Amino acid sequence: MAYTSTDLGPSLPLLASGKVRELYEVDSKTLLFVASDRISAYDVIMKNGVPNKGKVLTLMTAFWFDYLPKQIPDLKTHFLGLKVPGTVPIQAKTQLHNRSMLVRRLKIFPIEAIVRGYITGSAWSSYKKTGEVNGLKLPEGLQESQEFPQPIYTPSTKAELGQHDENISVERAAEIVGAKYAKRIEELALRIYSVAKEYAKQQGIIIADTKFEFGLDEETDDVVLVDEVLTPDSSRFWSAKTYELGRSQESFDKQYLRDWLTSNGLKGKEDVEMTEEVIQNTASKYTEAFQILTGQTLDGAV
Ligand SMILES: Nc1ncnc2c1ncn2[C@@H]1O[C@H](COP(=O)(O)OP(=O)(O)O)[C@@H](O)[C@H]1O
Ligand SMILES: [Mg+2]
Repeated sequence: MAYTSTDLGPSLPLLASGKVRELYEVDSKTLLFVASDRISAYDVIMKNGVPNKGKVLTLMTAFWFDYLPKQIPDLKTHFLGLKVPGTVPIQAKTQLHNRSMLVRRLKIFPIEAIVRGYITGSAWSSYKKTGEVNGLKLPEGLQESQEFPQPIYTPSTKAELGQHDENISVERAAEIVGAKYAKRIEELALRIYSVAKEYAKQQGIIIADTKFEFGLDEETDDVVLVDEVLTPDSSRFWSAKTYELGRSQESFDKQYLRDWLTSNGLKGKEDVEMTEEVIQNTASKYTEAFQILTGQTLDGAV
């Protein structure tokens, strides 16, 4: 069964609810970050959910929060652990198992740190029209899905629920968060992407692009990696085995759902109910990505 809404009763105050997650207050410094099985495409949440998706996202994020700081010693993350706090009502404990994380409560920078290693999606559309992506002039003659000579950083605004993110220049990002933090965010995003891309490629997944969020630890002035990281919701994952230049790629992310919506005239519509087939196919994409990336089966991991 899919778990599309959470209710933890009066013991834990609900601070925010996003497209996929609920954030609860544990104490003044700690949050409970719960991934539901909700799925969104084109910024709209589907009516029904994808069973176990929240667990895949949580465990994959936890995997990266373990792996990344080992490779990048000065990287700080918000991750505190997977333990379900004692104040969670008993009936919700099993549901939260492996889909909730304890995280540090931080001031979130209102930009999305997007890194692209391969040209696809909106970047490909923009390049075909203007030869540029986010105001960056790119080499001529790139083909669809081609790897960039260097990964590029293309920040966007972080839209409120129901709004669309907007691409911004690096200069605009610096105006929004301040030059010092903007620089650090860019530097970290590019380093994390490179480390993850290397690892994933060995396992058989190409991370074509991804989105990070960062927060500020006001006590230490550290820029901290937050949110989910390097999941099929926040990234485009392609199969390295079937990758071919000059066309769109088979992917492990929401592309399958997006294509289904588009071909059925449902793109951007509210209250769409996915068919059983769409749910099953989406669920198996997510679990397959988890298995390839972590080398563990989802059942084994939970
Ligand atoms: N450590 C943290 N402290 C406070 N907020 C956080 C933290 N980590 C992530 N968030 C926020 O929690 C929300 C995650 O919920 P999600 O459903 O993914 O939202 P969205 O619809 O914006 O993607 C995001 O708005 C993100 O900025
Ligand atoms: Mg999110």
